[in-house]
Amino acid sequence: MNAQLTIVRDVNALRAQIAAWRSAGERSALVPTMGALHEGHLSLVRLARTQAKRVVASLFVNPKQFAAHEDLGTYPRDEQGDAEKLAGAGCDLLYAPEAAAMYPPGFATSVSVAEVSAPLEGEIRPHFFGGVATVVAKLFLQAPCDVAVFGEKDYQQLLVVKRMARDLDFPIGIIGGETVREADGLAMSSRNAYLSEAERATAGKLNVILREAVARLETARGGIPAVEKKAIAQLTEAGFAPVDYVSVRDADDLGAFPGDIVVRPARILAAAWIGKTRLIDNMPVKAFAA
Ligand code: PAF
Repeated sequence: MNAQLTIVRDVNALRAQIAAWRSAGERSALVPTMGALHEGHLSLVRLARTQAKRVVASLFVNPKQFAAHEDLGTYPRDEQGDAEKLAGAGCDLLYAPEAAAMYPPGFATSVSVAEVSAPLEGEIRPHFFGGVATVVAKLFLQAPCDVAVFGEKDYQQLLVVKRMARDLDFPIGIIGGETVREADGLAMSSRNAYLSEAERATAGKLNVILREAVARLETARGGIPAVEKKAIAQLTEAGFAPVDYVSVRDADDLGAFPGDIVVRPARILAAAWIGKTRLIDNMPVKAFAA
């Protein structure tokens, strides 16, 4: 428990605090969030604490990563509850800027990461990674910490951020934190709060089906296209509609495999809807060794 959680909205105060820590020889770690915090976020805060003495969490529901028809207006918000959870997890500072300060009138710049942003989420939500890269670039400049921690739950986002930090020479190390799951395998997500009781019962099947697919791929009991097709059929049968994708990709750059067999470390990624809620999940896949 860190009773000393400070809430800061002003970027100059944020920079002054991080600079003071640095002068005192204390490393700092940033955990960017959109709030509505759950155990998955808190595990990232704890991971951040293993990397740095000081932890900054940011809370900003970034309008630039929502399309007009998406859930910006209804996205769950609970700053006070979030602050209490962060204090309990050992966070030192919560940076919660106002939207008007992040994007003042006349804001005209966007950051675009090619290649790794293009497939999967990039095809279905073309606005998304530009919005994420733009706000994360701003956060890296506003909170010049030594490292930043992002969840593997948003695996493509993690790769996009890593590529952006490398390409633009941000002097910050990017660390991925493992997905935290409910007992039935459902990946923790702020959007799980949208699920009805019946939908919640179905939701866990997404991970069960992905785990079966991983087992088939790792033992080459099915080629990549057949495994993807079967998982889509199983999800549809379980009540997910539509299934946006189930795709097996290179773990480093999300490139598609030319053949049927997983020959390098891979990731299986999926996105599917239950009612009005869109769930995403992914799992690592080891290369098949005959
Ligand atoms: O993963 C999220 O919560 C958001 O996409 C992030 C990284 C905080 C940027 O708004």
